[in-house]
Amino acid sequence: MIASVYSKNNCRQYSHNERIIENLKKHLKWNESDRILEIGVGDGKSTTDLLFPIFPKNFREYVGIDISQNTIEYLKSHIKLDKCNFYEMDVCCDRLPEEFENRFDHIFSFHCLHWARYPRKALENIKKMLKSEGQFFGTFLINGICDKLLFKLSQIPRWREHGYGKYISTFFQENSSNDYFEMWKNLFENLGFNLQLAHVDKFVLNFAKEEIADFVIAFLPTLSAVKKEDLKDYTLDVENVAISISEFDENKETYKFHMEAAIFMTS
Ligand SMILES: C[S@@+](CC[C@H](N)C(=O)[O-])C[C@H]1O[C@@H](n2cnc3c(N)ncnc32)[C@H](O)[C@@H]1O
Repeated sequence: MIASVYSKNNCRQYSHNERIIENLKKHLKWNESDRILEIGVGDGKSTTDLLFPIFPKNFREYVGIDISQNTIEYLKSHIKLDKCNFYEMDVCCDRLPEEFENRFDHIFSFHCLHWARYPRKALENIKKMLKSEGQFFGTFLINGICDKLLFKLSQIPRWREHGYGKYISTFFQENSSNDYFEMWKNLFENLGFNLQLAHVDKFVLNFAKEEIADFVIAFLPTLSAVKKEDLKDYTLDVENVAISISEFDENKETYKFHMEAAIFMTS
């Protein structure tokens, strides 16, 4: 992902985060001097405008991790606040930094874990990083819409070399509509998390045709692999692929995406 591009096209994710965080506040148990981790920070707008305001005044530290080097550089140059640090890290990594183990009282993640190729590894790492009394809160898409997009793009020979496979979840199966929510929920339970919240949040996103490609391209993890001279053709293909998995509303002449986000909170 390229953070500066995402920052211009993420108003829909921002609005969703705004609604979700408003509802989340009542479930959070804070102590002064809590240590907080966020996974998949993106451009940081939701972090600074929505998440930071709900932290206790004397929180001990905030750590933001993201798999994208470009994103971490962007965050470091745009957010310079006391007690905040950003690190490049894949939540599915094989070896966690030792100092992250059993460190955090709160772990948050918004619109990220659907990109985790190995959901089990991601949750194992979250469990290791969370203190035993800590709370994890995550919201991420569970109707496989991102996997479908990546899979279809990976089928176009010209773009195959972008490496889509790295981001397609092991939950994805072509021609099958796996119940991602149940699969994630089973994982949480099998790994011994105590689920305080586990439900599906359904919402619809409407787009005029000319808005679709910008929205999708902004969150694609493979954008940095696209050559400048290919961008125009790539944009057209992304638009076509996105339209193929949307629903056309003839009355409004808009394209609808039926989104399903999982809301999981552990206690
Ligand atoms: C769609 S953005 C969401 C950003 C922000 N949380 C928001 O809600 O606007 C997803 C972010 O997760 C990051 N990401 C994707 N896979 C990841 C992984 N395996 N580990 C850590 N971060 C990841 C991406 O680089 C990107 O910055």
